[in-house]
Amino acid sequence: MESARSLFDLSDRRVLITGASRGIGLCLARGFAAAGAQVAMAARSAETLREEAAAIRGEGGWATAVPGDLSTGDGCTGVVEDAVTALGGGLDVVLHNAGGPIVDEDGVLLMRTVLGASDTEWAGVLDVNLMATVWLLRAARPFLSVSPDPSVTVMSSVAGLVGIGGMEPYGAAKAAQVSLVRSLGTAWARQGIRVNALCPGWVRTEMTSSAHEDESTSEAVLSHVPQRRWAEPGELVGPAIFLSSPAASFMTGQTLVVDGGLVAHPLIG
Ligand SMILES: NC(=O)c1ccc[n+]([C@@H]2O[C@H](COP(=O)([O-])OP(=O)(O)OC[C@H]3O[C@@H](n4cnc5c(N)ncnc54)[C@H](OP(=O)(O)O)[C@@H]3O)[C@@H](O)[C@H]2O)c1
Repeated sequence: MESARSLFDLSDRRVLITGASRGIGLCLARGFAAAGAQVAMAARSAETLREEAAAIRGEGGWATAVPGDLSTGDGCTGVVEDAVTALGGGLDVVLHNAGGPIVDEDGVLLMRTVLGASDTEWAGVLDVNLMATVWLLRAARPFLSVSPDPSVTVMSSVAGLVGIGGMEPYGAAKAAQVSLVRSLGTAWARQGIRVNALCPGWVRTEMTSSAHEDESTSEAVLSHVPQRRWAEPGELVGPAIFLSSPAASFMTGQTLVVDGGLVAHPLIG
């Protein structure tokens, strides 16, 4: 019988984590490295990535920066190529976490409805969330095919499972990721490539700062969360390690919801 430790062991697994310069992705990079993985960290902020990768190495982990813009096909292909080179010629795990809603040029979240969002805003939110998943996996597939234990985890959101007023383009992009995961989870099962989605609820990061830093907005948000608190970004590390580890060996095409009870919220009570 396998020990609990070996079930979650990621020793020497070659992992690409996108959106690893801050927030959830940075916690994932630290957590995967602490679990023994070799982590290639992707995002646009090259200098920050290099500093964070160096900090992980300083703690005894294995991490390297593979900067790039994931809002284009070429950017995604370049990141995968750089990751494979840095990881010694292979790739076992892709964790596409980069993404988010429509933001302005300073990164401040913009509320946009179905009809209110411009075509450019729609394209932007679909590119970094949905299309980046496609572009990354298209480039990564040849390497995953020859990995001894390949898996993909896509960071979707509860916004892709329930209606989210004022952020419909984001919700549609996240729902499309869940659909893609179901399709790929079944299509790639025969090749042994597991594909799953993680759906966080409200997490305290830069992306949600306009909500958690404002008391009344935060209260309104938490009124829909049975645990009545924001998740800390580190609370996604365990679920992500689980999906990438031998512990989830018979799990594919699935969506793991980590939301303090939000989606299960009762109509009464
Ligand atoms: N926070 C929440 O409440 C929440 C809830 C559900 C789901 N999620 C999802 O979880 C993921 C991480 O969210 P977070 O809260 O950690 O967000 P965050 O703090 O805003 O971090 C987003 C990450 O994505 C990277 N990124 C954004 N656009 C990119 C691009 N075009 N190319 C490359 N990297 C890009 C950012 O790095 P650079 O700016 O350096 O490029 C950063 O590392 C997202 O997919 C988000 O939709 C978040």
